[in-house]
Amino acid sequence: MASSEQPRIQWLGRWGFVLAATGSAVGLGNIWKFPYITGEYGGGAFVLVYLACIFVVGVPVMMSEIAFGRRGRGSPIDAIRRVVNESGRSSVWSLLGWMAMLCGFLILSFYVVVAGWSFSYLWKMLTGSLVGTSVDDMAAVFGANNANPLNLGFWSTLVTLITMVIVGKGVQEGIEKNVGWMMPGLVIMLLLLIVFGMFSGGFGDAVRFLFSFNADSLSSEGMLAALGHAFFTLSLASGAILTYGSYLPKGASIGRTSISVAIADTAVALMAGLAIFPVIFANGMNPGEGPGLIFMSLPLAFQAMPLGTLFGILFFVMLSMAALTSSISMVEATVSWLCDNKGFSRRSAAWSTGIVLWLISTAAMLSFNVGADWTLAGKTFFDWLDYITSRWMMPLGGLGTVVLAGFVLKTETFRDELGLAPLPYTLWLAMVRYVSPLGILVIFADALGVYTVTLSVHWPWLLGILVLMGITGELVSPRLRKALTTR
Ligand code: PHE
Repeated sequence: MASSEQPRIQWLGRWGFVLAATGSAVGLGNIWKFPYITGEYGGGAFVLVYLACIFVVGVPVMMSEIAFGRRGRGSPIDAIRRVVNESGRSSVWSLLGWMAMLCGFLILSFYVVVAGWSFSYLWKMLTGSLVGTSVDDMAAVFGANNANPLNLGFWSTLVTLITMVIVGKGVQEGIEKNVGWMMPGLVIMLLLLIVFGMFSGGFGDAVRFLFSFNADSLSSEGMLAALGHAFFTLSLASGAILTYGSYLPKGASIGRTSISVAIADTAVALMAGLAIFPVIFANGMNPGEGPGLIFMSLPLAFQAMPLGTLFGILFFVMLSMAALTSSISMVEATVSWLCDNKGFSRRSAAWSTGIVLWLISTAAMLSFNVGADWTLAGKTFFDWLDYITSRWMMPLGGLGTVVLAGFVLKTETFRDELGLAPLPYTLWLAMVRYVSPLGILVIFADALGVYTVTLSVHWPWLLGILVLMGITGELVSPRLRKALTTR
């Protein structure tokens, strides 16, 4: 159990945690990454697998992480150690916390580069230097923005600085206040872009691309990407949600909170898809354009719509804010660990983390200019950071979390902590014991080419069977056990 002498700080308002967790979840992952990987992996089928991963794997993992945080009241390392010790299990499991902390840190080191793009586009909009009417013009603007390491480095450094200033000040100030107006603002901007898209001539194609299921377009690699992105977009297995959960007051419902965050996050991602793909199809762009996709497409829409400059400015303000509310959550685990264990003040913890981060992020930033040729297996340093965290560390961390929550801990621990009614509790248990871990393993094995069945075609069946097995198992086994042990 929590053993700190001083009570841990908690979120201020009733909505504090929901706002902060939504602020962490909704970010560049929804607006920058989701559209571009959906484009790369072929659209509808990828989207469907992603949605399944969010609700079948993501939500149960999120509930477990929040429960770990609130029960253990500490950084991922300390919280996991306390909770497993409470069940009489080995502290070795806190390695999961170490991995999560490292993962959040590595993500942030490439995230600041992308957030830097958003800030620099805001600047371009403000100064009226974002001109051009064709896809080629926009590709040239994006290219030129990346080509100069001093320019790109300036923006990523700025994001790092702002992040560390906010983190140094503490969790409540800043986060709770800003997410409340930023989220509706972002949604309004996206709605505006969607309405514009409806008149652009590309809307039908966009809807078809996003929502028509074509199993042939889905690869094993794409399925792993969808799974990894579900973790990324919900800020899981990276210390963010778990640490935020450690500030959650007793009594708040973990289940309801997780589902609301997941729904809000998914809604923003789908809206971003509906805002961006019409522009892409109307302008004959390639949806698989890569990481520059939104920066090459959206400015074209702003260029063409009435009051476009104003809306463009507002959009990039919201996007930059959304990026910041996510980036601060990525270092919260590290900072909280340094404060609790190493006697750092929040400010000094934030600045020391910031310096190391700046060094790695600068190397990541160079992947777009002088270091473009420093590749390993065809991937730049920036690509590697993204690949290792999303494809491997987060799914593995998620697997560890559900195994821990489902099998290692005493059942009472999380039954208490989650405070669910019997049926939802059984559902959660079935998910963390069978459906989520098997789902993760099956996708991994598929990506590693372990078997020859094409999972991309058969996964809906498999998922159905898993869910049924899990639920019947959980419903039957306690009764069976009781029947066998009582006479
Ligand atoms: N969920 C954030 C986004 O979608 C990214 C993130 C990942 C935040 C991991 C915290 C931890 O932009």
